[in-house]
Amino acid sequence: MAHGIPCQFFCSGPFFLFLFVILAIVNTAVGEKHLKFVTLLYRHGDRSPVRTFPTDPHQESAWPQGFGQLTQVGMRQHFELGQTLRRRYRGFLNETYSRREILVRSTDYDRTLMSAEANLAGLYPPNGSEVFNPNITWQPIPVHTVPDTEDMLLRFPLPNCPRYNLLMNETKKTETFVNMTKNNIKFLEMVANETGLKDVSEESIWSVYDTLFCEVSLLFLFELLFCLQMSVVFTENTVPSNGI
Ligand SMILES: *[C@@H]1O[C@H](CO)[C@@H](O)[C@H](O)[C@H]1NC(C)=O
Ligand SMILES: *[C@@H]1O[C@H](CO)[C@@H](O)[C@H](O)[C@H]1NC(C)=O
Ligand SMILES: *[C@@H]1O[C@H](CO)[C@@H](O)[C@H](O)[C@H]1NC(C)=O
Ligand SMILES: *[C@@H]1O[C@H](CO)[C@@H](O)[C@H](O)[C@H]1NC(C)=O
Ligand SMILES: *[C@@H]1O[C@H](CO)[C@@H](O)[C@H](O)[C@H]1NC(C)=O
Ligand SMILES: *[C@@H]1O[C@H](CO)[C@@H](O)[C@H](O)[C@H]1NC(C)=O
Repeated sequence: MAHGIPCQFFCSGPFFLFLFVILAIVNTAVGEKHLKFVTLLYRHGDRSPVRTFPTDPHQESAWPQGFGQLTQVGMRQHFELGQTLRRRYRGFLNETYSRREILVRSTDYDRTLMSAEANLAGLYPPNGSEVFNPNITWQPIPVHTVPDTEDMLLRFPLPNCPRYNLLMNETKKTETFVNMTKNNIKFLEMVANETGLKDVSEESIWSVYDTLFCEVSLLFLFELLFCLQMSVVFTENTVPSNGI
């Protein structure tokens, strides 16, 4: 770290976490602020649902790479985010890749690793001597990870964390939590009936919403396009031959 400014950049995104944090440590000693260090924490980009429910007509085979995978929308999101970071940290982060300036770490999931890679493609487009193949506007940048079971930094919920389990247990006993279940018991029962899921609770119902959200954003779009195409065909066939 003798020259250049150390910059850490974490790309993360496990199951439930929805977090977007940028921390900049600044030196305020002489009144003038200087950026010294940046930590960025991201979730992955758009993904397919991580699971579905028994009565869902769109099972895993409906998704090109199956459940929990980064979609092309997600790839573009992170690529553009990388380009934005390039602009934001111009003058702070060197234009050329320097391994002393940046460290990238991801959870050990396909979608987070791929998000980090897409992001870095936007952040470090090769230029000049960095180009290793003129046909490819990309250069490899390392993305570090640790096995899921050993990840105590980016994975959530933490695997085998007694404190987390204790607090979670305590939370589930609070009046607010118990009330929430009590007040919505009919709704939870209806969702269980409709989805064919055995265990629908305050804690697990998010996944029904998540699955439907993913399906609406992608599958529904396909179906909508298909319908529009059909209506165009229909219109063409029903337009009188004299063109009126
Ligand atoms: C950027 O990296 C190049 C190559 O290592 C170096 O020559 C140059 O001084 C660096 N620029 C800055 C602003 O650190
Ligand atoms: C590539 O490097 C050249 C010379 O260092 C510089 O003038 C140019 O702006 C750079 N292009 C991009 C896209 O960064
Ligand atoms: C770049 O692409 C051209 C056209 O496909 C090919 O002829 C050439 O060998 C490629 N160059 C490299 C370095 O891969
Ligand atoms: C939390 O509750 C579960 C289920 O009741 C139990 O198996 C577990 O031992 C509890 N953990 C802690 C840390 O209290
Ligand atoms: C829980 O519900 C009971 C009965 O409806 C109510 O009296 C109480 O204020 C509620 N508590 C909280 C924390 O919402
Ligand atoms: C759920 O299904 C059960 C059994 O078919 C039925 O008795 C119950 O009324 C249903 N509940 C709701 C909220 O739809």
